[in-house]
Amino acid sequence: MITSVTPPLPGPKGKALLDKWHRYEADVTGYQAPVVWKSARGCVVTDADENRFLDWTSGVLVTNVGHCHPRLVEAVRKAAGDLLNNYECPNTYRIEAAERLVKALPSHLDKCFFLSTGSEAVEACLRLMKRRSGKFEILSFIGGFHGRTYGAASVGGMAGPKRGYGPPMPGVIRALYPNPYHDPFEWCKDGPRFPRYFDYLETEIAANSTGSLAGLIVEPYQGAAGFVFPPHGWLKRLEEWARANNLLFTLDEVQSSYGRTGRMWAMEHEDLKPDLVCIGKAIGCGIPVSAVAGSSEIFACLKKGEMSSTLGGNPLASAAVSAILEIYRQEDLVGNSARMGAFMKQRLLEIARHSRFLGDVRGMGLVMGLEFVKNKTTREPFPEIIRPLIDAAAEKGLLIGSVGFYGNVIRVAPPLVITQEEAEESLALFEAALHDVEASP
Ligand SMILES: Cc1ncc(COP(=O)(O)O)c(C=O)c1O
Repeated sequence: MITSVTPPLPGPKGKALLDKWHRYEADVTGYQAPVVWKSARGCVVTDADENRFLDWTSGVLVTNVGHCHPRLVEAVRKAAGDLLNNYECPNTYRIEAAERLVKALPSHLDKCFFLSTGSEAVEACLRLMKRRSGKFEILSFIGGFHGRTYGAASVGGMAGPKRGYGPPMPGVIRALYPNPYHDPFEWCKDGPRFPRYFDYLETEIAANSTGSLAGLIVEPYQGAAGFVFPPHGWLKRLEEWARANNLLFTLDEVQSSYGRTGRMWAMEHEDLKPDLVCIGKAIGCGIPVSAVAGSSEIFACLKKGEMSSTLGGNPLASAAVSAILEIYRQEDLVGNSARMGAFMKQRLLEIARHSRFLGDVRGMGLVMGLEFVKNKTTREPFPEIIRPLIDAAAEKGLLIGSVGFYGNVIRVAPPLVITQEEAEESLALFEAALHDVEASP
């Protein structure tokens, strides 16, 4: 066994640390298993009490190359000893990172710009779409999550990041995102043209736009909404529709890129050619860095000095970007994501067949959503099962997290280095935890 946990959790050291944490830092983050992480390698996390867990979270889809990959750690150590900050002055690390990132992107995206967080990359894309088009309205999608800063939260389609903060950014038009598991209006039917959906979208625009629509922002699959994957072909049709309407197309690949879906970029599954791409999370695998990718022609709408960020492109972050892309060159992480993802999905589908409440298993590569429902026919969300399941899984040695518009989805998103042995052990732990939770009154 790779894992080893002495229940109950938290252990004595973990309990003391959690108490201290809550005394000093505001307890405002989402629910997680009561485990104080101390160190991690690959897919294995060790806590303050020396319990060992397998990780299905990758943080939150961040550590794609595995926790503390030695090449990444080494590169960051070296950069830290050379140069820690220089703001906009060029540095050797930043220049190498930019070259490597652009070369790793589809060829129509020939420029990038480095920032620090996914939200910041989204804000930059919103500004670029507005400046490039001279218009101010943005189309986005209900259920979408793009971050917590003002513009990013405004184009988001979940109430959480916006509730209680007054009016969101003006000019946002939100449309429904097709969800194959909940499809009362049959938007997902009749691909690849999806006439019902696009008739609806036209009505939405006709009713809500003042005639100043700049572009749209969309996730290749909706992450925070519950790993909702649209029907195949819908994104390509959306791109065609955007072109036909002279709209800029921004793809938010903050969490879907770097092999997560079994391809380096999720846009490759449908050969999408977005004008702008937001990149975050796995670009730094734990080091804060993000980027916007686009064409030279799009970036030309900004004058010198019109895009900047205090920490964007700093040597430490840039060293991480280059080291990670080198790891992708040397290790078949993308292939492993596709292979292990297919294996795990098969087993999860079997588990779902024997479960009373696991209604849907969906996803591609190593990003899968497990949607829990009270009744498999009515598909009524079952958020109450999630916390007990997170806790039961942790006590057995598996770290899982939750998402979902209704808070009823478990995310399966281990680091892409997961081995067959780790996959099998983690699946057995999940099955046992689910069994216990379903058997409890
Ligand atoms: C699709 C997507 N966009 C943007 C963000 C925001 O990224 P950050 O939390 O780094 O600001 C997230 C974060 O989860 C995300 O999943």
